[in-house]
Amino acid sequence: MNVPKYAQLRSELQQLILAGMPAHTALPSERDLMTTYGVSRMTVREALTRLVDDGLIYRVHGAGSFVADAAKITKSLTLTSFSEDIRSRRMEPGSISASLTRVEADVNLASILRISPGAAVVHLERVRTADGVPMCLERVWIPGDVLPEDFSLDTTPSVYDYLDSIGRAPEIATQTIQATVLDAVQAALLDVPAQSPAMSVTRVTADGEGREVEFAISLYRADRYDYRITVKRERHR
Ligand code: GLP
Repeated sequence: MNVPKYAQLRSELQQLILAGMPAHTALPSERDLMTTYGVSRMTVREALTRLVDDGLIYRVHGAGSFVADAAKITKSLTLTSFSEDIRSRRMEPGSISASLTRVEADVNLASILRISPGAAVVHLERVRTADGVPMCLERVWIPGDVLPEDFSLDTTPSVYDYLDSIGRAPEIATQTIQATVLDAVQAALLDVPAQSPAMSVTRVTADGEGREVEFAISLYRADRYDYRITVKRERHR
């Protein structure tokens, strides 16, 4: 298979960075990268954009690209799963104290998932880890007809991989991000002091046909996560 040039450059730079370039080190300029790797400016820009999306570098207008803080996972506007976020940083995603229960949707949950009140819903609770370190507390509700009776987190550790495999791939989500603090129980699960700051991310996710596949509330450690959002000025004529 032919790997596009930008993908090759992305992977070479990724290896360099992960081999131990300290956070905030400047990357070579676009021109230097063009010369060193014998590629066009467009290829360099595409590779750098992907590395920004991976959370490995950040760009400062007029100053260049710099290595991001490795302790932090930078989330972008792309819809990704926890497993993808962690793997893109070359760490191993995992879960501890995972539980799966089947419940009935109350009126509120039913209206969020657009199912009938009382319909079966699968409720998952997980402490998500990266290389064994707790990163996020996740509570997810999935319509019962999406997950078969024998669905098990032991054999299917990534919910999004599973949804992909049954043709219900998550395509679009509405997210609300709020600042919060962790209570004693949450903090103990995430291995940080009580009252530590966290980001609470509420996500309602739909598949390609616009059918809801999950409602999720994730609590991310604020010392390990940030969100990067590109905003564009509307020009009024
Ligand atoms: C993130 C999202 C959740 C989603 C999860 C799936 O944490 N905030 O809404 O359920 O990813 O991750 P995985 O596919 O690893 O189970």
